[in-house]
Amino acid sequence: MSEIDALLREDRTFEPSADFRAKAHVSDPGVYARAAENPEAFWEGFAHELEWIEPWSRVLEWNPPHAKWFVGGKLNVSANCLDRHVRTWRRNKAAFIWEGEPGDRRTLTYFDLYRQVCQFANVLKGLGIRKGDRVALYMPLVPELAVAMLACARIGAVHSVVFGGFSAESLRDRINDAQARLLVTADGGYRRGGIIPLKQMADEALAETPSIEHVVVVRRGYSDIPVHMKEGRDRWYHELMDGAPFECAPEPMDSEDMLYILYTSGTTGKPKGIVHTTAGYLLGCYATTKWVFDVKDDDVYWCSADIGWVTGHSYVVYGPLANGATVVMYEGAPDWPQKDRFWEIIERYGVTIFYTAPTAIRAFMRWGTDWPARRDMSTLRLLGSVGEPINPEAWVWYHLHIGRERCPIVDTWWQTETGSILITPLPGITRTKPGSATQPFPGISAKVLNHAGEEVPVGGGLLALTKPWPSMLRGIYGDPDRYVQQYWSRWSKDIYFTGDGAKLDDDGYYWLLGRVDDVLNVAGHRIGTMEVESALVDHPKVAESAVVGRPHQIKGHALCAFVTVKEGVYHSEALADELKSHVAHKIGAIARPDDIIFAADLPKTRSGKIMRRLLRDIAEGKTLGDTTTLADPSVVARLREQYQEEA
Ligand code: WT7
Repeated sequence: MSEIDALLREDRTFEPSADFRAKAHVSDPGVYARAAENPEAFWEGFAHELEWIEPWSRVLEWNPPHAKWFVGGKLNVSANCLDRHVRTWRRNKAAFIWEGEPGDRRTLTYFDLYRQVCQFANVLKGLGIRKGDRVALYMPLVPELAVAMLACARIGAVHSVVFGGFSAESLRDRINDAQARLLVTADGGYRRGGIIPLKQMADEALAETPSIEHVVVVRRGYSDIPVHMKEGRDRWYHELMDGAPFECAPEPMDSEDMLYILYTSGTTGKPKGIVHTTAGYLLGCYATTKWVFDVKDDDVYWCSADIGWVTGHSYVVYGPLANGATVVMYEGAPDWPQKDRFWEIIERYGVTIFYTAPTAIRAFMRWGTDWPARRDMSTLRLLGSVGEPINPEAWVWYHLHIGRERCPIVDTWWQTETGSILITPLPGITRTKPGSATQPFPGISAKVLNHAGEEVPVGGGLLALTKPWPSMLRGIYGDPDRYVQQYWSRWSKDIYFTGDGAKLDDDGYYWLLGRVDDVLNVAGHRIGTMEVESALVDHPKVAESAVVGRPHQIKGHALCAFVTVKEGVYHSEALADELKSHVAHKIGAIARPDDIIFAADLPKTRSGKIMRRLLRDIAEGKTLGDTTTLADPSVVARLREQYQEEA
């Protein structure tokens, strides 16, 4: 019996150590009851720890499903993340410790960051960007991405970060949806030894983005990335920054002014622009970074997420900087040049808090314990997990081989829409169970409901949020109806539907069960099956497609696409590869299907709806990979019969 099996078999729970509890920001279990009694007063407590230009007059205005938090207040997010620290001893404290994949390193103090943000804010103003304008950011994981976000926040421009792994078409659609006036990009970025030619991809997008007036290009620092600069449109970041004034007064923003848009996949073919506003979002990030990650001034905190995802927005940039933390940022892959790159980084900088995704943990498990064992990781004191349910085996492995049985693990459930962590242990209070996200954060009202909207006190159902919370999304950009339909119509307009299944155990612990809608979680990335299907049917040889997830050892789920081809088209291995590349080109490499299964027909209901549930069963079954059997129409026909019997 392995160590992992032993820990699992005992059905063990893990208590925070007395030492951790003694030093934690929060260790009094009474906070839960106090927050539940008066959530608004509870949130207001954190608001007093932020810096305001004008105070709020009301904590919450709730006209379901529309919420306003800290009504009447004025503040600036960049001033809360920078100016406030620069006025103290933190002026010379490291804000970002950055490492590029090729091994280049930079450290920016709070003063450095403050100064660069002010300068870039002036650059943006100089290019005509004003409060409310949208700015698209398509960048590798370099400090300039955070500088650009904070510069937007400083002048009240709305940023829309597009993950550097997305395709030119995805970038184009996001720019157009938001009608962005300016794009900040880079010559490229490094990933697994290769170069992602961001500017080149951006140029492809820019051919069809009439709203873009200016493009600012960051030089990532190497001459091996060829760049074409278009006269009159494209400017180098370093040239604009050279000589830009050092002072830029922060724009007084209303609590409910828009801070950013971040596109995420939903149940249709079109990604949704999730809108976050100023005060509530900042407060949610601030409060959870402080209480969940227990961040203190001597910590070295590392969230390994790319800033292109919400995790990076909230827990690489806004949450930790609002707390004055020292944040590690690493551009590249965990296995480059060796499979201990992450552990090397933890050793080099003395990382104390490490936040990553289960898919990464499962890859580390597969690579073996020798890699982490060779490194000194004795500085670690707290570990986090996010992105998908963590299987108990991975949890225990993380606990043994990275946490060395000493670090509490916080498994944090949240979404792009929730803005900040909602279900999580508090590391100085909560007894943890491997695989459970444990309890709602104080002030958060979560329930498990059945389809009829009845509460399930113990057992499985749908995860719902029954009260508004400060960092909640305020809408879908340009699509107010979809906001109501998608999130607030499942049961009633004051109950938020998460799209996740959950189970409550006898102790009232939450166990997340994954998505219940047509959204898949592949390697911690959210992918709408409809988006992949749209990309596939866009190919001239494809008649129809249905995409489902099948369990995958490392990625959690793998993408499995059933495809019917047009009359006269022969399916082949080569066509399968062509279709995979097509999807990668349309959406981005993260959406490349793992399997293409050619089918003569897709199983449908009488009303013509594709039965994905059935396809999931096929995808999970032994026949998977054996495309000859699956391509046989009788297989599908038999399944269709089976379905009709059931219905
Ligand atoms: C979906 C949201 C929020 C950070 C990154 C993902 C899944 C996220 C957990 C967790 C179980 C989780 C859910 C959720 N998810 N964290 N700790 N346990 N599931 O953000 O792209 O908006 O995806 O990720 O299914 O709905 P996102």
